[in-house]
Amino acid sequence: MYSFLQNNSIKLVISSLLFIVGSIFIQNWYFKNNNLVSNDSAVQLPLTEEDLSHYNGVGNDKLYLGILGSVFDVSSGKRHYKKGSSYHYFVGKDGTRALVTGNFKDETDEKDHVLDLKCDDIFAIINWRKTFREKYVYVGMVKGRYYASDGTETEYMKKFKIKLKECREEKENLKKQDQLYPPCNVAWSEAEGTRVWCSKSSGGIQRSWIGVPRQLYTPGDKKPKCVCIKEDTNMLKPYHGCSSTSTECYINVD
Ligand code: HEM
Repeated sequence: MYSFLQNNSIKLVISSLLFIVGSIFIQNWYFKNNNLVSNDSAVQLPLTEEDLSHYNGVGNDKLYLGILGSVFDVSSGKRHYKKGSSYHYFVGKDGTRALVTGNFKDETDEKDHVLDLKCDDIFAIINWRKTFREKYVYVGMVKGRYYASDGTETEYMKKFKIKLKECREEKENLKKQDQLYPPCNVAWSEAEGTRVWCSKSSGGIQRSWIGVPRQLYTPGDKKPKCVCIKEDTNMLKPYHGCSSTSTECYINVD
């Protein structure tokens, strides 16, 4: 009798477990296939540009702003974005380019094109995206230059990421160069012309040595840059008429 009851209890527990596991599986399958899952891991399909254009605060209270293909709900910042406000241009579209060009009239296909911009502009755009991420709610992606209709990144986005990486590397190299060759202090007066000089903090680089001014030619730059060098290795050009050990020199003085 006892063993009969025990067998039945085990069967009951097993069938209950199977029922619970089955229910969870069916529920997940149903929600997934009906796009009702709202957690972050769910695949969200991008909005179309047409969808996005409706969220411009005209005939719709919601304000959506696109940047690098990501869309944010900026309704809480409506004082900036509602019709008639300074930054109304940015809603209902991806107008990334104007964030650095300031051209709020650009309605061409180029308004989210950024690959030709300088590294400083690319960094500015990345900072804008960070601001939007921190301040507003992310809505999703917009299909177009940065994301394909299945939500995957386009070739353009891949190129953008490569450019960003190159810009970061360039910035890092410039920082290293600044440590090795800190920029000089520069001042100009009508009486003396341009004066360049080194100090323990010139170029914003704090150090224990002062150094002497020399001319550094950088590829792509028309004019040499004045840098301070610790030891004279004869690799950089001295300033004309300036003693090789002087910490200050005058440019354009014959
Ligand atoms: C390329 C030019 C510019 C662009 C693209 C730009 C863009 C923006 C954007 C998108 C916002 C809203 C940010 C948010 O949602 O919180 C903003 C806010 C603001 N901008 Fe500009 N802006 C530009 C130039 C200027 C200039 C020249 C001034 C001042 C002379 C200025 C002053 C302000 C101020 C005071 C705010 C409000 C800040 C706040 O209340 O949080 N902007 N700008």
